[in-house]
Amino acid sequence: MPRHRWWQGAILYQIYVRSWLDADGDGYGDLRGIISRLDYLEWLGVDGIWLSPTMPSPDQDWGYDVSDYLSVHPELGSIDDLDSLVAEAGKRGMRVLLDLVPNHTSSAHPWFVDASSARNSAYRDYYVWADPGPGGGPPNNWIDATGHPAWEWHAESGQYYLHNFLPSQPDLNWWLPAVHHEFKEILKFWFDRGIAGFRIDVAHGLYKDALLRDNPPLAHADPLQGRFGQRPVYSANRPETHGVFRDWRALADTYSPPRLLLGETWVGDLRALASYYGDDDELDLAFNFVFVFAEFAAPALPGVVAQTLAKLPIGACPVWMASNHDVGRFATRWCNGDERKIKLALLVLGTLPGTTVLYYGDETGMTDVQVPADLQRDTLRLGGAAAGSSRDRARTPMQWDSSTSAGRKTEVGTAITEYAQVRAVPDGVWSYVAGPLVIAVNLTDRPVTIPGFPGTDILLRTSGAAGLTNQVVSLAPWEGLVMRSDGQVSEQIPAR
Ligand code: NOJ
Repeated sequence: MPRHRWWQGAILYQIYVRSWLDADGDGYGDLRGIISRLDYLEWLGVDGIWLSPTMPSPDQDWGYDVSDYLSVHPELGSIDDLDSLVAEAGKRGMRVLLDLVPNHTSSAHPWFVDASSARNSAYRDYYVWADPGPGGGPPNNWIDATGHPAWEWHAESGQYYLHNFLPSQPDLNWWLPAVHHEFKEILKFWFDRGIAGFRIDVAHGLYKDALLRDNPPLAHADPLQGRFGQRPVYSANRPETHGVFRDWRALADTYSPPRLLLGETWVGDLRALASYYGDDDELDLAFNFVFVFAEFAAPALPGVVAQTLAKLPIGACPVWMASNHDVGRFATRWCNGDERKIKLALLVLGTLPGTTVLYYGDETGMTDVQVPADLQRDTLRLGGAAAGSSRDRARTPMQWDSSTSAGRKTEVGTAITEYAQVRAVPDGVWSYVAGPLVIAVNLTDRPVTIPGFPGTDILLRTSGAAGLTNQVVSLAPWEGLVMRSDGQVSEQIPAR
């Protein structure tokens, strides 16, 4: 029986630091701003706060281009501010996670400055350098996240270097033991300071094929299978990456409480996702993008939940997240701003078994904002400029003013570990038992009735009205409810 870890059943809350709360009046959010509103997060029921990148950076990709892994970006605060945040959050029972970027550094990082100074420089091998391909062009066909070749020509040293994101984000060479050593020291540095764990950027991408083989073509466009007509068979999801997480997990588990490793595992196959949990010896949590991009409808979403639970190793804790700083906000993607749907989605996110990760403003139903072109600050635009709107749509300031959020505050769920789908419900309705609760959500435009459980409390209706259940329960279009289970639903649950 696996041990209970603090993040199982927890609510984690992602803060895009620059956009949350500005304490020093410079117009940008900062660590002191977060400290000043910790009471709000405590009230919301948050167990852990994940801060978007906080380390010094030239901000070509807003902190995902790190120039110093052991410090704090001066525009966000100081290392003392971060220590205070950890201490103040701790007093309120909350833990603080940082964002770690191990796939690449900034080109301004001293390692890369040295590496690009000469072929025989001390840090040259920290990065992926290669000679031109046979025709004189890039070494292979790999494409970066913007749709351009993933290789930048470095005329001074006569080689290309690899960048899966911007040219100012050179990829690290994980075949080099020294890179492993550096990152273990970085982990220790922050763990020793009381950081509760890391969200690991591009966790699926650390190792690349040693032979730098060409990626095969992708027949159908699908953001989860690949981009720009390529399946990243040789540039991501390499088997050697798992060894990195086994090492880090062994280290994280030496701390008390154990430090959390939460991976940004951008994979379209739930078996591949499951593999990142290892044999309970790799990542503790792995983001599930199949769920993120599932249709907000039945049977699509319940199907992904069922498949996820079936594929994850026994005891592994699933992660339910539907918004972040890259994919945009679920209130727009799933709900098109419809308040009924937003409340339903929050109900689902907060009651599924596992860990819920909310993005700041999810709790009040913040939607994407179309930022005018002259105000956009996202230079990377995952998927390429033509592929869609800038990621700034989901990085707009937290809407603190209740008059603009129209009182849409919605409480999120509690720790729940058991899940079983209830069978006898109409099409388009999703009902499940989650620990002591029964949840029913009507994912359709029509009113429906579902079997009720006489005498059972309805604890919450997303429409606001609550009361006792009867023989049947009516659900308005896009309405959901939570009942307290007293065992009467068990005959409707398929045997597992
Ligand atoms: C994933 C991050 O979430 C995204 O914002 C960033 O641009 C890329 N990784 C590159 O670090």
